[in-house]
Parts: sequence; structure tokens; C-alpha cells
Amino acid sequence: MELEVTKAFPTVIGQLRVPDAEAMNQDLQALILAEEASYLSVGRSNIGGWHSRPDFLNRPEPAVGALTTWVTWMVSQMVDATAGLGAFKGQLSVWAWATICREGAYHAPHSHPDSAWSGVYYVDADKFNPNRPLSGVLEFLDPRVGVEAVSTPGDPYGEPVRVRPESGLLVAFPSWLYHWVHPYAGQSPRIAVSFNVTLAAPDTVRTSTIEATAGRDI
Ligand SMILES: [Fe+2]
Repeated sequence: MELEVTKAFPTVIGQLRVPDAEAMNQDLQALILAEEASYLSVGRSNIGGWHSRPDFLNRPEPAVGALTTWVTWMVSQMVDATAGLGAFKGQLSVWAWATICREGAYHAPHSHPDSAWSGVYYVDADKFNPNRPLSGVLEFLDPRVGVEAVSTPGDPYGEPVRVRPESGLLVAFPSWLYHWVHPYAGQSPRIAVSFNVTLAAPDTVRTSTIEATAGRDI
């Protein structure tokens, strides 16, 4: 007799520490801080802080191109992990926007409509402060409606999943997964680039396999 256990309704969250990211991060930091000084924040999920326009990946700087390559590669891996290796033959389109949090800023709970995969790359996450362990932490909410009503010691239902930002960390998750960012308590600007990715079936693919484009952001 063998018990068969099915882990139903999985939700995949990917984390990748980009190797040797220091030079790329320095260039991205300078670029984003300069852009912040050039126009007012776009209002989205951010409460306080600054939010760029959604065309960040259209810039010609090599660091932006490098980040685009990492994001595209990681999302391709996530698609393979869910759909099956090589099962998806269509086109990935990615667009992104930069955010800056200063002390007290946070992101309200939200999802990312009209896209398949979303994520964030931390350009500068500041140092961990043991006195404020939730500062700037990315928190995902359990998407299963009503599961918090189940109360069994040790069960995982209704518990949030938290990701502590690190400079050079790339995170990807399904766009429908609600998340928010705890109020930031650091002294230096917390700088990140968030992104959305859409997947187009092969019969709608135009020419290239990868396209960076402007579009809706959250
Ligand atoms: Fe988000």
C-alpha cells in the first residue's frame, strides 16, 4: 500500500543572485538617481518614494542591456519550470520601471494585471538592520481564498512568504500573486527595477524572440 500525495495548486517563486553584479549595479544606480532628478514620480503602488516611467529597458546603456538579458533568461527558466522544458516556443516581451524608496516609503498590496510573469531586481537594497528586520521586505500573500480559516498546528496555510532584498538579487513570480513591500527604514535609497513579462503564442510572434517594450506597469 502506498499513499499518493499531490501538492496541488503550486505557486512558484524564483530567486537568482546575479553573479558579479557590482559594476552593473553601480551603473544602474547612477542612471536611476539621475532619472529621479529629471521628472516627478509616476503614481502606482508606491506610497512615497519615486517610480519611473515604464520604459526603463529602452535605454541604450550597457547595464540596462545586461539587466534585460538576466531578466529574460530567468523568466525563460521559470516558464520551463512550469510549462516543461522547451514547451513554450513563443515570444517573451518584457518591460520594466525603476523605483526608489527612502525612509518610510512602501508599496501597497497589488498584483500585476495583463502580464504572465513579474519580478524585481535589487540594485541597492541597503544593509540588513537587525533592529528593523522587515525594512523593505517583499511579502507575498497566500493566494488561496479562505485558507487562513484552517488552523492546524504547523500547517502552512495563510502564512506570507517573505523575501529580504539583497543587492544583486533577482526575483520572479506569477503576475497574479498579490504582494507588497514593508516600509523602508534605511538611510540610503533602496533602488530596484521591477518588470512585467507577457508571453505570446507562436502564431502571434512577429519577428524576434525577445522584445523590450513600454507598457502597463504597477
Ligand atoms: Fe509589484
